[in-house]
Amino acid sequence: MFKKMNNEVPDEQKPMIALTFDDGPTRNDRRILAALERAGGRATFFMLGKKVERYGSTIERIMADGCEIGNHSWDHPRLDRLPAEEIRDQIGRTNDVISRFTGQAPALVRPPYGETGGSVLPVFAEMGYPAVLWSIDTLDWKTKNTVNTLAVVLHHASDGDIILMHSMLVTAVAVELMAPALVRRGFRLVTVSELLAARGGMAPGRELIKLPPRPAAAR
Ligand code: NI
Repeated sequence: MFKKMNNEVPDEQKPMIALTFDDGPTRNDRRILAALERAGGRATFFMLGKKVERYGSTIERIMADGCEIGNHSWDHPRLDRLPAEEIRDQIGRTNDVISRFTGQAPALVRPPYGETGGSVLPVFAEMGYPAVLWSIDTLDWKTKNTVNTLAVVLHHASDGDIILMHSMLVTAVAVELMAPALVRRGFRLVTVSELLAARGGMAPGRELIKLPPRPAAAR
């Protein structure tokens, strides 16, 4: 799974960053994937179940590239306002449709809007999922500005960060500059599951915001 890396051997001691792209799949994902591949990095795509069917070949490419697919609900409701049964349905239906293309249910869920109130955390705990949030919010959906998205990440990124972006064209263009710049600074661009595995994992039903840096990787 490391064959796409530019580096000969993945260096466990390097600082790590998890780039994440929400609300896809979209036609912009292939551009993001191409930029990641050129930089020798990977990322995580948190998808809406209702959009998955139309993007089967994109999903296959994401998996072939060693990137990760996460569950972002079926159609992006405020899960904290739904009864437990409907939260289970939002996550379960999305797992089912993603599994049809990937052969397995996603290992991770990110609740829409990062809302973890109401029955969200109890249901996630019961289903075995932490709630994957983020430590850097680029606000790309709001600014729709490539330079701003790039600047937020390059100014703030540090070891263990989970960076929130969206599968948008302006963001894909930012990633073409961001990914190589982060790699030049010595970061490994990893999936959220890789970040978790390297930093001791995460209990279901808890909120994942940022992983603590390894002492050896501290700058
Ligand atoms: Ni979203």
